[in-house]
Amino acid sequence: MFSINGNKAGRRPGEGAPYAHIVGWGMAVPEKVVTNRDLSEIVDTSDEWIVSRTGIRERRIAGPRDTTASLAIRAARQALGVANLKPREVQLIILATSSPEYIFPSTASIVQDALGATNAGAFDLSAACSGFIYALSLGAQMIRSGALETVLVIGSETLSRLVNWTDRETCILFGDGAGAFVLQAREQPGGVLSSILRSDGSGGDLLIIPAGGSKLPTTADTVRDNLHTIAMNGREVYRFATRVMVSAAKEVVASAGLTLDDLSLIIPHQANLRIIQAAARGLGLPEERFMINLDRYGNTSTASIPIAVCEAVSQGRIQPGDNMVLVGFGAGLTWGATMLSWAAVTPPQVSRWERIRRQGLYAVARARSVARRSWRHVEGLVWGSQESGEVRQAPVEVEQKM
Ligand code: COA
Repeated sequence: MFSINGNKAGRRPGEGAPYAHIVGWGMAVPEKVVTNRDLSEIVDTSDEWIVSRTGIRERRIAGPRDTTASLAIRAARQALGVANLKPREVQLIILATSSPEYIFPSTASIVQDALGATNAGAFDLSAACSGFIYALSLGAQMIRSGALETVLVIGSETLSRLVNWTDRETCILFGDGAGAFVLQAREQPGGVLSSILRSDGSGGDLLIIPAGGSKLPTTADTVRDNLHTIAMNGREVYRFATRVMVSAAKEVVASAGLTLDDLSLIIPHQANLRIIQAAARGLGLPEERFMINLDRYGNTSTASIPIAVCEAVSQGRIQPGDNMVLVGFGAGLTWGATMLSWAAVTPPQVSRWERIRRQGLYAVARARSVARRSWRHVEGLVWGSQESGEVRQAPVEVEQKM
């Protein structure tokens, strides 16, 4: 019997394979709106240039209190609310991000703690802007294999912290935000039907943050040379994106045994309106069949697709039984697509009392986290660790040798 994290079904892999449905969805964006006109005050650009070359009019930028985790937590709480689930029912959290809070610990673990998802494993997934497609595919496969019943998939970013604000070619593109899906096993056919995931690492240098990893660790020189911010070859990324959006969408539709005519909606990664228009032409589909909201958010990387899904749901553009393709691309180079059949999931009416009770659960999670830290500190004192609960500095002699 194969089981992870207390899956009560305990199905053998592939046995009575359940379907992985999206039963909850949520999004969060920072309050601060930065318009193209605002950007034209810091770099040599104009609203007219940005709109005509990208379709972007404004984006949300993280305030001092927003972080990748805090946005993810807000989106995840909303998604759990729609799914009407308690955090402890989540068995796995996959958080796709290109702007994690740290190299480690994972941002997913920070989110797990804040939610009080005490029965969940948690990890970050790095596949740049394709990350949400990768995470969704992975979460769905965990469910379809029978290993898990409930998975929380999140895309969250504060890329504004990694943008070179003196580079007019990149700083106009990106924005901050988060989106989350709750996936759950159901017998009813539908949900995530198929996915394709691809990579071409030979194009890694086309979109890169060169320093801060193990190859080029942080030094005064890397900071001086601005190597910790996004560097991009825009034209090459553009050419790559228009090509793979079409091939990935066609491939994933075919792998589900469907045709492009069966699609009600395509939800593409929101990078550039011209890339989406080129994909529409390449697929022979009208632009109206594409969900587009990049004019208000810019490119929010891993968050762009789930945010677009949330807005499509609230605009009534997604109905039960609709077939949809989610398709994305990004640094790596990576790309991928997912074929979805939206189930008849009606968000439950949540009473005021239920909302208060949920806030109570999150307050308990905060208290539990503080209690655990305090207990670890006490244990450290009892067992003699002098620096319990604190970040230890590398011994000076080791630092000097390195
Ligand atoms: N404002 C004004 N002018 C700008 C500018 C800006 N923000 N950014 C670049 N320019 C200038 C360039 O310097 C260039 O000037 P030059 O002709 O004097 O050299 C001119 O505009 C044209 O540059 P070009 O690179 O050909 O523009 P473009 O039409 O290719 O548009 C991008 C540039 C970045 C918008 C476009 O290449 C793109 O969207 N690429 C994909 C990027 C992407 O999606 N990345 C994320 C992937 S997940």
